[in-house]
Amino acid sequence: MLNLRTETPACWLKQVSANLEELLIDHAHCEKKAAGVAMNLLFAYVDRVELVRAMSAIVQEELSHFHLVLDLLERRGIRFRKIPPSRYGERLRALCNKQEPLRAVDRLLTAALIEARSCERFGLLRDHLADVELAAFFGDLFESEARHHSTYVRLAKLFVPEERVEARLAELAVEEGRIIESGENLSRMHS
Ligand SMILES: [Fe+2]
Ligand SMILES: [Fe+2]
Repeated sequence: MLNLRTETPACWLKQVSANLEELLIDHAHCEKKAAGVAMNLLFAYVDRVELVRAMSAIVQEELSHFHLVLDLLERRGIRFRKIPPSRYGERLRALCNKQEPLRAVDRLLTAALIEARSCERFGLLRDHLADVELAAFFGDLFESEARHHSTYVRLAKLFVPEERVEARLAELAVEEGRIIESGENLSRMHS
C-alpha cells in the first residue's frame, strides 16, 4: 500500500534512539516542511480544483501535526531550534523532471514517497520505542501519513494516465530506496 521498495535498515532505530531529542526537533521541522510542500503545490497548480482542495486540507493537517510536536517538545523542555536536515528531501527533489506535466507528477510522487517513509518509520517508532508516551504519539500520526501518501498518488493521475503514474512511482521508489540504504549518520526522521 505504501509503495516503498526498501525497508528501513535496522540500524536506523538504534541511531535515532540514541538521540531522541534531535529526532523530535527534526520531526517538528518535517511537519512544517510537509505543510510547505503542500502549499507550494497548491500555488503551482491553482487551476486544478481537486488538487487545491486536497492540498489546503493537507496544509492544515500538517500544521496541526507541527503544533502537536511543538507541544510535545515544550512538555519535555526541549527548545525548538534549527538543526541541519538530512539530505533525503534534497536528493529526492533532484530526481524531479523540470518539464510539465512530468514535473507535477514527480513533485506529487516524491511527496507521496516521503509520506510513505514517514508512515513506515512512525510505525517502527510506535512498535519499538521504550518511551510509552512517544510510542503512542507516533502511533497516532501513522494513519494520516498513510492517507496523505494515497492522496498524492491519486492527484498525480490528474496529470498523466494511471499507467504512467504507476510506472514512474515504481522508478522513484527504487531511487528513494537507494537514498535510504545509503543512510546518514544523524538522528533524523529521514536519515
Ligand atoms: Fe504530518
Ligand atoms: Fe503527511
